[in-house]
Amino acid sequence: MLIQFTLNGRPVSVEAPAHLTLLTVLRDYFHLTGAKEGCSIGECGTCAVLVDGELVNSCLMLAPKVAARTVLTIEGVSPADGSLSDLQEAFIAYGAVQCGFCTPGMVLAGEALLAQTLTPTREQIRTALAGNLCRCTGYQQIVDAIAAAGAQRKEVN
Ligand code: FES
Ligand code: FES
Repeated sequence: MLIQFTLNGRPVSVEAPAHLTLLTVLRDYFHLTGAKEGCSIGECGTCAVLVDGELVNSCLMLAPKVAARTVLTIEGVSPADGSLSDLQEAFIAYGAVQCGFCTPGMVLAGEALLAQTLTPTREQIRTALAGNLCRCTGYQQIVDAIAAAGAQRKEVN
């Protein structure tokens, strides 16, 4: 099946079996390995990407569902010059990255939230991260990083 969509800002098309998940197509066809396969049943968020700005678990979405839609992966979050985004920098600054397995999904969850509000409460941040599991950090640093990036963006805007 031919699937055409916008991936990290660029129009793409891929010929892939209709039963494949978006996660498999991103990783195996586009070689974008930032989205990770953790649980494969929608419980850990390591596979999270944004589809039309909404956080989705790509392990649960069939690839044909993104036809004519926009998909943002962690690879599309960074500026084209290879530097890190402000939110990624905040993750490092606040110690929100340890093993890193959850980090792509966490950053995208943060981006989805900050697109709605630059001044989320800690409770709102925790709710936004409810579908993303981290076994390393204890979450506080991740909440700190998202809050700090939001505050920084608000100051700039
Ligand atoms: S791998 Fe998709 S939610 Fe865990
Ligand atoms: S940093 Fe290891 S799972 Fe979150």
